[in-house]
Amino acid sequence: MTVMVEPTHLPKLYRELADWWPVLSAPEEYAEEAEFYRQTILSHCGYPPKTMLELGCGGGNNASHLKAHFELTLVDLSPGMLAVSRKLNPECEHLQGDMRDIRLGRQFDVVFIHDAIAYMTTESDLRRAIETAYCHCKPGGVALFAPDQVRETFKTSTDHGGHDGEGCSLRYLEWAWDPDPEDTRYLVYMVYLLRRGDNAVRCVEDRHELGLFSHDDWMRLIREAGFQPKSLPFGHSLLEPGSTFVFLGLNW
Ligand SMILES: C[S@@+](CC[C@H](N)C(=O)[O-])C[C@H]1O[C@@H](n2cnc3c(N)ncnc32)[C@H](O)[C@@H]1O
Repeated sequence: MTVMVEPTHLPKLYRELADWWPVLSAPEEYAEEAEFYRQTILSHCGYPPKTMLELGCGGGNNASHLKAHFELTLVDLSPGMLAVSRKLNPECEHLQGDMRDIRLGRQFDVVFIHDAIAYMTTESDLRRAIETAYCHCKPGGVALFAPDQVRETFKTSTDHGGHDGEGCSLRYLEWAWDPDPEDTRYLVYMVYLLRRGDNAVRCVEDRHELGLFSHDDWMRLIREAGFQPKSLPFGHSLLEPGSTFVFLGLNW
């Protein structure tokens, strides 16, 4: 029997609110970016890639698009988020683990870390996550890291959204700012309005502490892990061109 350990330091969204994830963030919203990641991977892998390890898969929204093209192994720290992803992606292998220290003893053509990489808030944690990617990446393969923000283009921002599901609806307000430009963290405060079928509405606030690193720091850490580093502007119709980057580690 596998015992799932509930990490207590994660935001509420990934613990007691994990089953609300599908009405916060819907799989359809990820189609365009998943295709960008797939094309980027295809043009940077030394051979046609088949297997992919995703670290910090969350509710499996990217995976729901990528699984048509790759054999996926999905890892997350949160048992609740893994349960959400398992429901959406029952055909994929799911494992609980921490991207800073998990060692599966096997290698993949591609290692992908999407926005979960933002939960690495110190250089030491980011270094460990990139080293994990390197250990699991086959020679000739590629790792892709997609942070939400890099230091140079960070701006204070607000956002809102949410969806209606079967018998439950959610709306959120999100506010991001950087309290100390000298360190490697920024904060996102979120307020969720949660409505069940009976129209009772509950309001929950949450705090996400996220990592903020410069472009040069990213490139250096990827190189120091053993990869050849490369960065590309992230192309998405909803984002200003050049507003953020994806980073690649080429294992060749
Ligand atoms: C925004 S969600 C990821 C959503 C995902 N991109 C998707 O496509 O559905 C961030 C995830 O990072 C996970 N996470 C945070 N720290 C982690 C760590 N150290 N190791 C593994 N997963 C982690 C959280 O549990 C959460 O599920």
